[in-house]
Amino acid sequence: MKNHKVGVLFVGLNGATANTSVAGSLAIKRGLMNDRNGMLTESDIFSDLALAQFDQFVFGGWDINHSNAYDAARLNKVLERDLIEDLRDELEEISPWKAIITEHDVDYAKKANNILSVNSMEESVNLLKQDILSFKERHNLDRVVVIYLGSPLKQVKEKGFFHELPLFRKAIQNNDESISSAMLYAYAAIESGCPFVDFTPNVTLKVPAILQLAEEKQVPLAGRDGNTGQTLLKTVLGQMFKIRNLKLTGWYSTNILGNNDGLVLSMPEHRQTKMEDKLGVLEPVLGYNHFSHIVDIHYYPPRGDNKEAWESIDFSGWLGLPMSVKINWLGRDSILAAPLIIDLVRLMEFALRSGEYGIQSQLAIYFKHPLNATARGFYDQYMLLQNYYSGMKRAVLKSANERCANMQPEPLNV
Ligand SMILES: NC(=O)c1ccc[n+]([C@@H]2O[C@H](COP(=O)([O-])OP(=O)(O)OC[C@H]3O[C@@H](n4cnc5c(N)ncnc54)[C@H](O)[C@@H]3O)[C@@H](O)[C@H]2O)c1
Repeated sequence: MKNHKVGVLFVGLNGATANTSVAGSLAIKRGLMNDRNGMLTESDIFSDLALAQFDQFVFGGWDINHSNAYDAARLNKVLERDLIEDLRDELEEISPWKAIITEHDVDYAKKANNILSVNSMEESVNLLKQDILSFKERHNLDRVVVIYLGSPLKQVKEKGFFHELPLFRKAIQNNDESISSAMLYAYAAIESGCPFVDFTPNVTLKVPAILQLAEEKQVPLAGRDGNTGQTLLKTVLGQMFKIRNLKLTGWYSTNILGNNDGLVLSMPEHRQTKMEDKLGVLEPVLGYNHFSHIVDIHYYPPRGDNKEAWESIDFSGWLGLPMSVKINWLGRDSILAAPLIIDLVRLMEFALRSGEYGIQSQLAIYFKHPLNATARGFYDQYMLLQNYYSGMKRAVLKSANERCANMQPEPLNV
């Protein structure tokens, strides 16, 4: 097979997660780092599936901040300084295109230095599509995947036109203020034939018109809100309580984090969907809701990207006797997320190549609020993933076998 090239475009290119995904991938490509821990696509389930490799990726994207990826990496302080210096040449070549914003964006975005100056939403969409097209042509790319890693937006008010694609198109023409910048990015990506992943707590992929557009353009989608730390533990332990028939009576969670995402999440109008995603995870796993569930997120600058979470879990055992579990999780936000981002790039590019489209519910294991998936416990989600890709593997091997069977024998060179 030709070594196809895959474009990876991030909304929020300079953010800690996107920037770490870019720098980490370049480090692996150059052989400066080899450890691929945290990537499911490096496990046996995916062997024999021709997933894109690190040397096939070309990175780009949009951000409200115009720094190049080297300056962003120094500011994000996730990776070691020496590694960032080793990657300096390549990182300096990656700079974000101008971003779009709407009323739902963080207020400081209005004063940012890298915003498209446009007169209408339609113009924004056309310029985003132009960015994608010229990137594809400039780098001679076979496919481009768009990953949304912008900041959590303010709540979007649901509107009737969200439900019908023709009405949604009209609303874009009318610059309807219920349309968020994230929806415009998704719209432009899908119109351009790019798989779109929402790794954030935004409602973009809940908008039926956007799903209708993906059906029409035959584009795969996945979301929402990456499941990387505290909520991951809930999908694992929640399923253990369920299987062991131990009754959860309460789960108290608290977090401190000091990166930019922590800052944005400290603003009440930007944290609502994140809180819903974090609080909504246990009930579907357990099948009941008569327990206390509290989640706190605190912005604590000294920690930067190194977040800390505490869990105090109360449950009731045989004869109703109470017990508890305490967990202290010391994670690195972007180091937990980046391998999942690369997995999603690979699997979405593979989905597009395989003719799949619409919500890819087999990827539920990657999200706090997995769209269109009934599997909500970690074990169930893993089985879903495994069964899906084992089926794919069988199909790939079968068609390879059939191709071999139909091949004419090579003439003997005598
Ligand atoms: N890292 C994780 O573990 C994790 C897990 C789940 C969800 N998420 C979500 O992923 C997103 C990214 O996380 P992060 O830690 O990288 O945050 P971050 O704040 O470091 O990055 C967000 C980036 O988006 C940019 N941005 C903001 N508005 C934009 C717009 N309109 N257009 C283009 N760019 C814009 C910002 O300038 C910033 O560079 C957040 O929404 C976060 O909640 C992260």
